[in-house]
Amino acid sequence: MKPTTLGPTFQNPAADKPDATAGGVLWPSRVCYLVALATTLWAVASILFPPTPFSLPLLPSVTVTQHPPREPPPPPVLAGQAMQAPSPKSNRAVTADRCAGRYIYVYDLPPRFNDDIVRGCRALRPWMDMCPYMPNCGMGRPLGAEGGAFPGPGWYATDQFMLDVIVRCRMRRYECLTRDPARAAAVFVPAYTSLDGGRYLWNGTATRDALALDLVAWLSRRPEWRAMGGRDHFLAAGRTAWDFLRKTDDGGDWGTKLLRLPAVRNMTALVLEIDPWNQSTTLAVPYPTYFHPATAADVCAWQEKARAAERRWLFSFAGAARPGSKKTVRAEIFQQCGASSRCGMFRCTNASDCESPAAPGAVMRLFGSSSFCLQPRGDTPTRRSTFDAVLAGCIPVFFHPDSAYTQYTAHLPPDPESWSVLIMHTDVTGRNVSIEETLSKIPPAAVKGMREEVIRLIPRLVYADPRSTRVDFKDAFDIAVEAVLDRVAKRRQGD
Ligand SMILES: *[C@@H]1O[C@H](CO)[C@@H](O)[C@H](O)[C@H]1NC(C)=O
Ligand SMILES: *[C@@H]1O[C@H](CO)[C@@H](O)[C@H](O)[C@H]1NC(C)=O
Ligand SMILES: *[C@@H]1O[C@H](CO)[C@@H](O)[C@H](O)[C@H]1NC(C)=O
Ligand SMILES: *[C@@H]1O[C@H](CO)[C@@H](O)[C@H](O)[C@H]1NC(C)=O
Ligand SMILES: *[C@@H]1O[C@H](CO)[C@@H](O)[C@H](O)[C@H]1NC(C)=O
Repeated sequence: MKPTTLGPTFQNPAADKPDATAGGVLWPSRVCYLVALATTLWAVASILFPPTPFSLPLLPSVTVTQHPPREPPPPPVLAGQAMQAPSPKSNRAVTADRCAGRYIYVYDLPPRFNDDIVRGCRALRPWMDMCPYMPNCGMGRPLGAEGGAFPGPGWYATDQFMLDVIVRCRMRRYECLTRDPARAAAVFVPAYTSLDGGRYLWNGTATRDALALDLVAWLSRRPEWRAMGGRDHFLAAGRTAWDFLRKTDDGGDWGTKLLRLPAVRNMTALVLEIDPWNQSTTLAVPYPTYFHPATAADVCAWQEKARAAERRWLFSFAGAARPGSKKTVRAEIFQQCGASSRCGMFRCTNASDCESPAAPGAVMRLFGSSSFCLQPRGDTPTRRSTFDAVLAGCIPVFFHPDSAYTQYTAHLPPDPESWSVLIMHTDVTGRNVSIEETLSKIPPAAVKGMREEVIRLIPRLVYADPRSTRVDFKDAFDIAVEAVLDRVAKRRQGD
């Protein structure tokens, strides 16, 4: 058998070593216990010291609409630390400003760029009603216990393309919002560009591009834009970059041309999969999953469950077969998994099976009882399933580095072999490599180590409940915002 690529074959020098102490990467049980304790004390403190009127004028300057409903302002402890303006004359106040270099200004956009799109949720996708996915800040309906798959709070039937809504909602609670654009380190554009892009994919190109062109026209007239030509601006475009990179105006060409507009090229777009040719425009962030913990204690409780889970399958796969070639790795997976008594499968006959109400529970139960979860490429290199696997404590098996390692450099550790397995697709399709044999040769201690690393990644890869005022851990949103601030700071220095 040809040895597979388990060693340090892929290094990503661009990825920074994650900060183990501050980043929530390391979550030993004791830390979880202390976090739970701290959360309780914090809750008690906020009862003893309720919000004061002082926090009211400091609220974020974003439009507040009926969707989603507004929550009470954050308690004074956080609001005070976050929003207090430092006096430039006082050194003490300057050093005490924990928001220095992190202030974000959020545009108050006309509703046609966001809320109107959500109001038209019935028509967002030609073959399904998207309205059930909109409530709760884009998390969708809460999931019940579903056969024990979802114990504890924080589980929702979230659609994979809901990033725009989740990020905008999460931004409302960002601790360092400012109403003064001159003081902002970065500017957030709360437009639902991927919901817009997704709704007209089968219409003419003029229809597909209309709102994006409207948006850049609106932005480029603003004084905030002129400060840096938009190079300090960012937005969420929660689909793959491929959906926004149409080259021609031929209706047969796929997608919108959002990411080709000169103005958007100057910005940073948070996407689910980067544009490999123009990486300065995009930043890949995790796909939204079903878990949206409100506090670190919720994360810890789930991590304990994932650690304790009994994993009766060596490996598993969830997905649909694709018509066409039998020589693809996906076709091989169906063949090899079907022939193995150690492989579990959730097979979607078609896309609507994968989106059925029973799918979240079925997939999470399968992944939660498997040691390895196979993640072949689909239409594009990445899949939401990778993040479902990590959430379930299942070690992802990739067949191409572009499925994760070259994508989520801000969120993932720089050493892929610490938390995942790479079996090159060409080895499976061209060299008859057995997936089962490859995986069963990994020593149990190594499997255990990888699984622990996967479980430690959970807080970095989930989007915390966007309505929570008590997010006390660094989630996928926080890490994305840090990466944006870092990028904009470097652009400023380059001026
Ligand atoms: C997009 O195409 C659909 C289906 O052909 C059609 O019903 C709809 O009116 C079109 N939308 C626009 C804005 O042209
Ligand atoms: C993009 O940024 C450059 C440099 O700041 C600027 O000259 C250019 O006008 C900007 N483009 C747009 C469309 O604003
Ligand atoms: C990258 O973006 C620039 C515009 O900034 C464009 O001219 C170029 O064609 C793009 N490259 C690719 C490979 O798409
Ligand atoms: C999906 O598969 C089911 C059977 O599993 C079938 O009844 C249904 O028509 C299919 N839908 C589409 C859109 O192909
Ligand atoms: C591929 O591997 C399977 C099982 O390991 C074996 O039965 C089969 O003969 C192999 N095929 C080729 C073409 O080597």
